[in-house]
Amino acid sequence: MHIFITGIAGFLGSNLADYYLEKNYKVSGCDNLIGGSIENVNKKINFYKVDCEDYNKMCEIIKNVDVVCHAAAYAHEGLSNFSPYMFAKNNVVGSVSVFTAAIKNKVKRIVFCSSMARYGAIKNPYKEEDIPKPVDPYGISKLAAEELLINLCETNNVEYNIAVPHNIIGPKQRYDDPYRNVVSIMTNLILQDRQPIIYGDGEQKRSFSDVDDCIYCIDKLLLDKSINKQVINIGPDENFITINELYKILCNKMQFNKSAQYYKDRPNEVKNANCSSEKARKLLGYKTTVKLEDSIQRVVDYIKYKGPKKFVYNYEIEIDSDIVPETWKKKIF
Ligand SMILES: NC(=O)c1ccc[n+]([C@@H]2O[C@H](COP(=O)([O-])OP(=O)(O)OC[C@H]3O[C@@H](n4cnc5c(N)ncnc54)[C@H](O)[C@@H]3O)[C@@H](O)[C@H]2O)c1
Repeated sequence: MHIFITGIAGFLGSNLADYYLEKNYKVSGCDNLIGGSIENVNKKINFYKVDCEDYNKMCEIIKNVDVVCHAAAYAHEGLSNFSPYMFAKNNVVGSVSVFTAAIKNKVKRIVFCSSMARYGAIKNPYKEEDIPKPVDPYGISKLAAEELLINLCETNNVEYNIAVPHNIIGPKQRYDDPYRNVVSIMTNLILQDRQPIIYGDGEQKRSFSDVDDCIYCIDKLLLDKSINKQVINIGPDENFITINELYKILCNKMQFNKSAQYYKDRPNEVKNANCSSEKARKLLGYKTTVKLEDSIQRVVDYIKYKGPKKFVYNYEIEIDSDIVPETWKKKIF
């Protein structure tokens, strides 16, 4: 079995690669290294520093591959409001490039990592049969890529599945990126004895998933023959907490007693975002194996081990208007 993973230097892609290497599968993958880190890439894989948007190169490197997991993306939901061209180009055109190269090279199956941003602000918990209504360019780009995957695979008789993860946390996630990954950002700031920032009143709710609880689901979506043409939410539906509660958990764990700083809420940020895991329980045998508190501890341990880092502002803001959060405009993190 030869598995090809895009975004293999990223958080999810590198954890998935490690999982398959342990099983002695052949693993290849590509990354343009804008988001992840070369440190995440296991030496045992065939690594290509290739951008998914480079269609000719993608055709060259997806050779003799059985299945493809497309995890590369710009996944900064908030930032996508201000850099829509960059997000649409990478997440839509880049995805079509991967799907086309994979189909041309006769892979058996393609799995696309979408996002719960596809659902938008509809009623919670989000179910797979709901009509999606994304509210920002990131969510729209993910949904567009899903539609393209379904269309291309149906036309060419290729198997596919769509994973819908939400707020994944765990080791190997970037914690010096000011635009996303709230648990990692807060941990990095606390380790520097700096006050974390909360957007809005902090009462927005999220459900965090441990990366290990996503990986075995993606494995089934990639390799289980009985699961085909499915869109499935992956992750827990029982760990629904506010950002204020998350902050308290981190303060307790890290014995930090400064209050958070509250900043204006960000445009288009959905108040409550919780996915139903019912379909995953039924089809994938989903069960949360890592408790939220333990998962957060894993993040804290990882960042402590690596050491705190300065934040890196390496994405361009295309529409630098008054509604860009001050944190990003003035590089406050
Ligand atoms: N982490 C989460 O909470 C979460 C939640 C829902 C969905 N997802 C989706 O899961 C996937 C993986 O997310 P992640 O958290 O690991 O993000 P990540 O940023 O850690 O990893 C993505 C990787 O893709 C690479 N990349 C981006 N554009 C590329 C391109 N054009 N060509 C080659 N490489 C490119 C980046 O350098 C990065 O290493 C993404 O598609 C994301 O939208 C993640």
